[in-house]
Amino acid sequence: MVNVLFVCLGNICRSPTAQGVFEHLVRERWWRDRVFADSAGTIDFHAGSPPDPRAQAAARAYGVDISGQRARQVRLDDFERFQYILAMDAENLRDLRQLCPPHRHERLRLFCEYAPGLKVRAVPDPYYGGKEGFDRVIRIVEAASRGLIEAIEAEHFAGRAEGRSQRG
Ligand code: 4NP
Repeated sequence: MVNVLFVCLGNICRSPTAQGVFEHLVRERWWRDRVFADSAGTIDFHAGSPPDPRAQAAARAYGVDISGQRARQVRLDDFERFQYILAMDAENLRDLRQLCPPHRHERLRLFCEYAPGLKVRAVPDPYYGGKEGFDRVIRIVEAASRGLIEAIEAEHFAGRAEGRSQRG
């Protein structure tokens, strides 16, 4: 199993959206039992809350239901369990580096590294803005999710075409 963790500040806007979009694209591509995704926040302020209604609406418009997710804070055991730990912005990455044991730092990345064509370094925080910010989150996390899926396939599943779905 390949385990992927998406991390933002509150775990109610960007990282739940990233989890939902990524899971959706993984289901299109592979058998779902090969890749597990989760999300978490660097702060615990919203722990237990569902995604922000604006994030839910943007995801729904894209075709993904993220209403069942509940926010949680990053835990120390996440650094052992998840091989890919993807920060939405530089502040999230800095906070993760402070929490993460040194021998796991190579697991930490900016999620946007998987969408080099977009020429953006961060998934901008949409919390204090309007609907267009949430739509922008969808576009960035979709592109980065596609790049991440290519990377996981190359690193873990190369040459194992039997695992691909009919639509893959
Ligand atoms: P997220 O957005 O990190 O994408 O979930 C935010 C959620 C909450 C806050 C800021 C950003 N906040 O300040 O409470």
